[in-house]
Amino acid sequence: MQGYVHGGVKGKEGLVFKDNLEEPRPGKGEVKIRLRAAGLNHRDLSVPTRRSNGDPDVILGSDGAGIISEVGEGVQSVKVGDEVLINPGIGWKENAAAPPEGFQIVGFPGDGTFAESIVLPEENAIQKPSSLSFEVAASYGIAALTAYRALFTRGQLKSDQTVFIPGIGGGVATFLLQFAKAIGARVIVSSRSEEKRKKALDLGADLALSNEDDWTNVAKEEKVDLVIESVGAATINRSLDLLRSGGTLVIFGSSTGDTAEINLRAFFYGQYNFLGSTMGSADEFSAMLDFVTNHSIEPIIDASYELGQIENAFNHLAEAKQFGKIVITM
Ligand SMILES: NC(=O)c1ccc[n+]([C@@H]2O[C@H](COP(=O)([O-])OP(=O)(O)OC[C@H]3O[C@@H](n4cnc5c(N)ncnc54)[C@H](OP(=O)(O)O)[C@@H]3O)[C@@H](O)[C@H]2O)c1
Repeated sequence: MQGYVHGGVKGKEGLVFKDNLEEPRPGKGEVKIRLRAAGLNHRDLSVPTRRSNGDPDVILGSDGAGIISEVGEGVQSVKVGDEVLINPGIGWKENAAAPPEGFQIVGFPGDGTFAESIVLPEENAIQKPSSLSFEVAASYGIAALTAYRALFTRGQLKSDQTVFIPGIGGGVATFLLQFAKAIGARVIVSSRSEEKRKKALDLGADLALSNEDDWTNVAKEEKVDLVIESVGAATINRSLDLLRSGGTLVIFGSSTGDTAEINLRAFFYGQYNFLGSTMGSADEFSAMLDFVTNHSIEPIIDASYELGQIENAFNHLAEAKQFGKIVITM
C-alpha cells in the first residue's frame, strides 16, 4: 500500500513516500480502516526532528476518516462498511487531570494515517455523523480535541468572559476561536499576517492584534480572563501582560521554543493560574463531537492535497501560511 513514512535519517530528510508498504491486519479488538482522508498537524513536522538516525520506518499522521474494511476477533462497536473518524488518542478513556500511563498518539510510535489503511483499537474508530464529508471528519482530530480540553475543561471559559488566542493561523487556534464564539465569549486574537487577522475577524473575532502592535496599548480597555497559548517563547510574556490579575493562562504548545524567562514577582503579584493541557480523553472527544454538531461548527480547511502530493502539504504547513487545517485525500 502507499504511505508517507519517516525513518533512517533524523529530521525531514528521513521523510519518504513509499508504495510498497505491507497491508496491516487487525488483531483481537482491532479494526482496519480504509482511509479516505487525513488531517495534518504541527506534530507531523516535529516527530521527524525527535527521532534518531537509523530509526525504523513509521507512517506519520494522527487524524483521519474512512471506512471499516476488516474487523478483528471480538470487535462489536463497528462493522465492515461503517464510516468512521479517528480519535487520535490511544488509551485515555475517562476524563482525568492527566492521561494514564501508556497513553499514545496515533502516528508515532505506532503507524499513522498518511497511508491507504490503518489498524487501530476498535474504540478509536468513532461512527462518523453522516452529514460530514470524509475531509471534514478528518479535520477535527487532534486540533479540535486539544482546543476543546484547553478552552473548556482546563480554561473553564464562560460566555461572559474574554479569551486571548495568539497565533490565530494555527489549526488548533482556529477551533479555539470557533468554539469560544459559539458560547458567546469575547475573543481577541493575534497573528503576524494581515490576511489571517482579516480571516479571523470574518470568523467572528472581536479584535485582532498584529505582532507589531504594542498589545497592552492596543488592548488596554480589555479585561482578558483567559489566554490560550501555543506559540510559546515568542509570545508568552506578551500574552501574560494582557492577562487580568487572577486570570488563567493555559498552554498546550510551544511552536517557537520550549524555554522562556518569566518575571516571577509580576506573576505572583498578579495571582495568575498557569495550566498545562494536552490532547484530551475519549470522553472529551465525544463531548467535542456533540459540541461541534450542536453548534454546526465545521473546520476551516485551508488546502487539500492528494496522498501522492503529501510533500507539498508538508511544505505548506512548514511555511505556516495556512489558516486552519490542511487535508490529505486518498
Ligand atoms: N499538547 C497537545 O496536545 C497539542 C496538540 C496540538 C498541537 N500542539 C502544539 O500546538 C502548537 C500549534 O499546533 P497547530 O497544529 O495548531 O500548529 P500550526 O497549524 O502549525 O500553527 C502554528 C501557528 O503559530 C504561529 N507562529 C508560528 N511561528 C511563529 C513565530 N515565530 N512567531 C509568532 N507566531 C508564530 C503561527 O500563527 P500566525 O501565522 O497567525 O502568526 C502559526 O499559524 C504546536 O506547537 C503543536 O505542536 C500540541
